[in-house]
Amino acid sequence: MSKLSKSRVYVEKNKDKVNSEFRLGYHAMAEVGWINDPNGFCWYNREYHLFFQYHPYSSEWGPMHWGHVKSKDLIKWEHLPVALAPDMYYDAQGCFSGSAIEIDGKLYLMYTGNLNGDPEYPESNRQVQNIAMSEDGIEFKKLKNNPVLDTKDLPDHALPQDFRDPKIFKQGDTFYSIIGSRHLDTSGQLLLYKSKTLESWEYLGVLFHSQNKFGKMLECPDFFKLQDKDVIIMSPQYLERDGDRYSNLHSCVYMLGKMDLENCKYDYEIIDQLDFGFDFYAPQTLADDKGRRILIAWMQMWERSMPTNDKSHGWAGAMTLPRELKIIDGKLYQLPIEEVKNYRVNPVSYQNVKVNGDLSLKGVEGQSVELELDIDALNANTFGLKVLMGEDQQTVIYYDRTEGKVILDRSKNGEDITGRESLEFNKDIRKVPVALMDNKLKLRIFIDRSSVEVFIQEGERVMTATVYPKAYSKAIEFFSDDNISVCNLNKWEIKP
Ligand code: FRU
Repeated sequence: MSKLSKSRVYVEKNKDKVNSEFRLGYHAMAEVGWINDPNGFCWYNREYHLFFQYHPYSSEWGPMHWGHVKSKDLIKWEHLPVALAPDMYYDAQGCFSGSAIEIDGKLYLMYTGNLNGDPEYPESNRQVQNIAMSEDGIEFKKLKNNPVLDTKDLPDHALPQDFRDPKIFKQGDTFYSIIGSRHLDTSGQLLLYKSKTLESWEYLGVLFHSQNKFGKMLECPDFFKLQDKDVIIMSPQYLERDGDRYSNLHSCVYMLGKMDLENCKYDYEIIDQLDFGFDFYAPQTLADDKGRRILIAWMQMWERSMPTNDKSHGWAGAMTLPRELKIIDGKLYQLPIEEVKNYRVNPVSYQNVKVNGDLSLKGVEGQSVELELDIDALNANTFGLKVLMGEDQQTVIYYDRTEGKVILDRSKNGEDITGRESLEFNKDIRKVPVALMDNKLKLRIFIDRSSVEVFIQEGERVMTATVYPKAYSKAIEFFSDDNISVCNLNKWEIKP
């Protein structure tokens, strides 16, 4: 049996065996096994397609396949057969991340083939770029001419073992690809290539070089035009912590600037973190028929414990809620995708509720909910809410006026989550500087069993966390050290 068929049969046979305790209800996930990065996220044949790094056989990372789901509205996902398996000499140790492009009704995937060398010499590993094509968006054929970009196509200063995650796009009649790379000086860089045919590519130069000042390897680049800016998104490994920024071991940043493809020049005016929570990595974006730029990310972080794996639940990893991107006042805003509103049921709302101390409200609780809050801080210094509360469990979201920050605390979420960064830094707390608007804090909070996503001040900042409360930990409680007024509170269950 081919590796692809084997993986498909395995998924069918094992999908009902996973432990569903922490499984999410309205986020994209695989049926069984491990997932990481979103791949080939695209709008194709009037549907959204999402591929992802996939190891169906265990809840740990392993030889990478591409899993596949599709959706009409980015909330309800339909599982499709595994799209790519590592079955060729040029991708033998993994079909790593990549992107998609539609050409004349056909769907093309450009992805990285991972090739391990001698285990004693990691520098003998190789990464090359390949293309697969599909007429129906489900069955893919790898091109005969793969790899289309090989070690020989690298500039002298690029390490052949770190050359991955191509972002393919078209401008005029030319295809371009931006690919993550590592310089001989061990820092990260983004390389630019162009092609007329997809089968042979010409090296154009370095678009961005971190010079060992901005992280190591730059993973999963994305590039698009949004309003009047050229945006690059990338995930730098081991970016050094800078105050409240880059507190996770690996980060994800966006740049707003101006791209000159022909001269391989990218000038940026802003570089900043995309999500200030714990679990957000390697996002990809697409443009749909409504002209929206939509982002989705892996809602996890490398080199951390993952409770569903530790507890042998048979799965690990989920995607964030898709977010629409907008540039407002020179900053990138992220808004929860509009379609989630179609799944709101059982509304509960309150107006002008005074809080001083602790307060819970009838009907305001749950593990699969959206909360929309408009809080007037009045004279309070510290105020916020506890969600997923029960016995000694809680996840806390609050504002501290002295610090001028929103703070997310998952220290009592239900499971101890540890990672390499834990030793150096408060492992359970993340903070983001936020200014009140007319003394108000606006939040939209999405809770989905084992995830919390907090959209702050209409998408100006976002914080994302995985959490692992018991099924009974579903209380929500407001708190404040002085008077606040919850001017508007809307709560819905989200039921896809
Ligand atoms: C990012 C990443 C990519 C790579 C893939 C392998 O999370 O490390 O650079 O292609 O995961 O699964």
